[in-house]
Amino acid sequence: MRGHIICSGFALILIVVFLKFSSHGRCSYNDKYKSLVRSHPSWGIRREIMERHKNLVFFYKTLLGIKFTTPEEVDVLRFMEPEMDLQVPVDRSEASGTLTCKDLSHVTEIDYIGSGFTKIVLKGILVNGKTVALKSIHAEGNDMKSCVDRYGDRGGCHRLATYKLQKEIALLQILRCPGIIQLHGQCYDNSVASDIRVTAMLELGSPLEMIQLLQTPWEERFKICLELVQLLHYLAHSPIGSVALLDFQPRQFVLVNGSLKVTDMDDATSDELPCQADADCALTFPARTFAVQCSVTGACTGSNEKRNLYNAYRFFFTYLLPHASPPALRPLLQEIMNATGDLRFGINETLKAFEDVLDLYKSGMNHSQSHALKDYTVLQGFRINETDEDFSCWPSYSYQGCLLSVHDPTEAAELCNSRPHCRNFVIGQQRTWTGRYLASFTKNSAQLVPDESSCVYMKRSSNSENFTG
Ligand SMILES: Nc1ncnc2c1ncn2[C@@H]1O[C@H](COP(=O)(O)OP(=O)(O)OP(=O)(O)O)[C@@H](O)[C@H]1O
Ligand SMILES: *[C@@H]1O[C@H](CO)[C@@H](O)[C@H](O)[C@H]1NC(C)=O
Ligand SMILES: *[C@@H]1O[C@H](CO)[C@@H](O)[C@H](O)[C@H]1NC(C)=O
Ligand SMILES: *[C@@H]1O[C@H](CO)[C@@H](O)[C@H](O)[C@H]1NC(C)=O
Ligand SMILES: *[C@@H]1O[C@H](CO)[C@@H](O)[C@H](O)[C@H]1NC(C)=O
Ligand SMILES: *[C@@H]1O[C@H](CO)[C@@H](O)[C@H](O)[C@H]1NC(C)=O
Repeated sequence: MRGHIICSGFALILIVVFLKFSSHGRCSYNDKYKSLVRSHPSWGIRREIMERHKNLVFFYKTLLGIKFTTPEEVDVLRFMEPEMDLQVPVDRSEASGTLTCKDLSHVTEIDYIGSGFTKIVLKGILVNGKTVALKSIHAEGNDMKSCVDRYGDRGGCHRLATYKLQKEIALLQILRCPGIIQLHGQCYDNSVASDIRVTAMLELGSPLEMIQLLQTPWEERFKICLELVQLLHYLAHSPIGSVALLDFQPRQFVLVNGSLKVTDMDDATSDELPCQADADCALTFPARTFAVQCSVTGACTGSNEKRNLYNAYRFFFTYLLPHASPPALRPLLQEIMNATGDLRFGINETLKAFEDVLDLYKSGMNHSQSHALKDYTVLQGFRINETDEDFSCWPSYSYQGCLLSVHDPTEAAELCNSRPHCRNFVIGQQRTWTGRYLASFTKNSAQLVPDESSCVYMKRSSNSENFTG
């Protein structure tokens, strides 16, 4: 490995000399560079390796600056940058909670869960019974394939891809918030002399299935959008500045215990585009282009935040937010859609707008003003044993039947009145994430079952027909 770095250093000198030399010629650096790489393919990959190496060392230095480090992480740094001064504090208490190669070697029931351009993800069970996701370089993946086609150097290509994973691991250590997948630990195996095998051990999630999500109640879709906005708010003010997710697509996210988390961080960047004039800062999407100002420091300041927010609008909000929303929230949601779709709002205003929607939703949206509950008889301490013949509704919280979120019995009464089949509803202890009740709506009430924690509401006019218990 030491030899590797010396080689890289040699290539760097070559390139510096070459850059100096070529800046005097008429031919552009790029043209000359390309023709040189064509005749010396190994120069191209060395240059790429050096760039990624530099980039990664920057992340590691940042990491050391903001966080205590495990002994293993210090070893990795020493390995990568033998010259670096590593008088860093090592926190052994945290190290004890972090997974290492030893834990990895005892993982059982390993199973494939997914792969992308660069990485492959497996799941497995730790000695303590917990499941984890194991992320490593996909040796047969398209990133490796296209690199080997270009450079014919498997070892070099593996190294290049490994930098991406190492950068992701470093970012996961620097950026910690509920919307980012948690890194449980890592394993650097350099027992193979020629290369280093890196495995990230992560919190296990399940893929975000947009089609399924579209069929869930509005409250659940709103939760995903709110969690995304909270993540983007964190990224806009992160310890390393405003971070953009360059490859922003639903497949970069997973759900962990029902919460949205980003899992693919190798395309995250904290650099804002460099610029000389405003024209250099145009933020271009397939359907829209936005102007961003070039700051006096020569960066398109705010472009990362804007890029994330517009991507959230086009990949998440447009699909998840408006449809089947509660009527009382529609004006506010319309304003959010319009303001993010035109990038009139920044992330702070967007988060505030989402929190306002949440507050209004939790407040019950003034349903308690209605007198709908007067038509119902209350039976405290019972529930209804639902039969297969009962009606179903969509989108319901249960697969069968009609289970909906309500603020209080009055809202449930209004909902029941608006459905032709509905004669009764039951409210138990079950709550949604916002703290609203889940009410079950039925047409039959023949099977009343004692249940201390629940309450049956029956339409008065129907008592004599249906109530036999
Ligand atoms: N923690 C996790 N839990 C469950 N599944 C995961 C986890 N991390 C990743 N995955 C799955 O593995 C796939 C590949 O992971 P990842 O996106 O990091 O690889 P990639 O090579 O960068 O992919 P891409 O080509 O999308 O950039 C993801 O699309 C996701 O479905
Ligand atoms: C999962 O989510 C539920 C509800 O949001 C929460 O009460 C519970 O503590 C979470 N479990 C874990 C393991 O985080
Ligand atoms: C926002 O509203 C304005 C005025 O009604 C309209 O011209 C514009 O197209 C809307 N933008 C989006 C993204 O809906
Ligand atoms: C947005 O909020 C963050 C943190 O809450 C704050 O530091 C920042 O100054 C705010 N930005 C603007 C433009 O208001
Ligand atoms: C709800 O009712 C209160 C008082 O009756 C009123 O002040 C408030 O504006 C109403 N809110 C909505 C969203 O209608
Ligand atoms: C509920 O109904 C099912 C059949 O419809 C029956 O088997 C079950 O015993 C009932 N449960 C109670 C608690 O009465």
